[in-house]
Parts: sequence; C-alpha cells; structure tokens
Amino acid sequence: MAEVYVDSASLEEIEKFIGWGIATGVTTNQKIFLEKAKGCNFEEQAKKILQLVYPLPVSLEGPNNYQGILDAADRYTSWRGLNNVVIKVPMLGNGDGLRAVKVLSEKGIKTNVTACMTLNQTFLAACAGATYVSLFYNRMRDWKYSLLDPQWEWKQSNGIKEREPQFLEPATEYALDTIDMTMELLEEEFCETKLIIGSIRSPLDIEEILTARPHIITIPTGILEKMPAHSATDAALKDFDKAWAEFCASEKKL
Ligand code: E4P
Repeated sequence: MAEVYVDSASLEEIEKFIGWGIATGVTTNQKIFLEKAKGCNFEEQAKKILQLVYPLPVSLEGPNNYQGILDAADRYTSWRGLNNVVIKVPMLGNGDGLRAVKVLSEKGIKTNVTACMTLNQTFLAACAGATYVSLFYNRMRDWKYSLLDPQWEWKQSNGIKEREPQFLEPATEYALDTIDMTMELLEEEFCETKLIIGSIRSPLDIEEILTARPHIITIPTGILEKMPAHSATDAALKDFDKAWAEFCASEKKL
C-alpha cells in the first residue's frame, strides 16, 4: 500500500497529521517554505521539523545548481542528531542534478530527485542511485495538456481556466502511465529507489494515483484535511445517532 507523506513546512500542520497516524514522512520545497513558514529562520524551522518527526524522513531542498546542492547537503547533514534529512536534488536539464546524486549517494546521503515529469528522468534518477524520485502529478498533466489543446496559449493569456475534457483525459492518462511505468522499473530486483508522487491538487487526484500503486504520495495539508469527509458518511452517522437516541429512550431500565 502507498505511504503518505505530509507536503508542508508548518509545524502545527505536520504535528496534526502525524497525530492522525497516517504519515510516514515529510516533504518541503522553497514554495512550501514561503507559503507555510514565511518570516521564519530556515535553519531553525527545518531543524524543528526534523526533530518533530524524527526518525521519519524529511526532504529539504537547496539551490538549483550543482555546487549549491552539495553545499546545502553538507550543511543539512551537519545538524547533529538529525540524520533523518533527505536532500532534494532538482532534475536539472544539464545532468548536474544526477552528478550531485552520484556524489551524495557515494557518501551515504539520502536524496530525493525532484520535479520529474517523464519516464526517462525517473529512470536516470534511479540509475544514479537516488533514494527517492518525485514525479509531479498535476504539473505532468498541465504539461501534457498544454501540448494537446491548440487554444492553450490563448486561454492562458486570457485567464481562461476551464479545461476541455477531450484533452484532459489523455493528459491524466499520460501522468498515470508514467507512474505505472516508473513503478514497473523500480520494482525490478536490486533497485532501491522509491517513487514519490507530488503536486496534488484535489482528493480525487489521490484516488486516481492510487490505481497506479506508487510507493509514496506526498499530500498538501489542505487536501489531507478534506479526505476523511463525505456527506453520505455524515448522513449515515446522523441516522445511527437518531436510532441510538430512540433505542436509549426505549431501553429497559435494570
Ligand atoms: C513535493 O515534493 C513537491 O515539491 C510538491 O508536491 C510540488 O507541488 P506543486 O506542483 O503544487 O508545486
């Protein structure tokens, strides 16, 4: 069964969902730090997250260049007693991300190759020895959709958000097939790389992604919040409450 990671940098949110007993790790990125921890000191906040969930893994991202990645990895792995850190390494188009993964994996440092959109990228990340590789579900769909809808650019520049179902469906298929094919690759003998699916925008995304059976899905807290709720569940529980009240009123007193 797929594991759940929390895609957040807020201590309160992470604590809440760890408390639900559903999460086995945390992922962050620069955008998430801006949204969830604006104004905090990065090092202080990152250490608090690592401590809060220890020994569960926490992915932390650094700059998008070779030396910056290695420097960030040196810094994050020097934090005493916090060896649950995973270095997020961007899938850079010039191969520098892969080069960084090779160096880090030789030092026994865990990596998460991030922002992948294709089977070629996940394949190379696994070959380089990544601990995790992240495919971005909705960004993959956006990219594929943009190739299929001839009016995409015009819609973008005119602020039109609606998607055409005839293009949306193949875009979703592309994303699910990429997850599926990556899992097939990674499940071969001797491959230890785990697949994380990120870029989740709705509870329905999770149900779609689960059909492709990835190792891990990293879920924003706003989506996790919505997942247990259902109006039909509420209606069923209301029925039971009503029946219970009636039963209690009729119960024989001993
Ligand atoms: C997680 O590791 C990713 O960085 C995150 O899910 C990306 O999400 P976005 O596409 O909403 O930026």
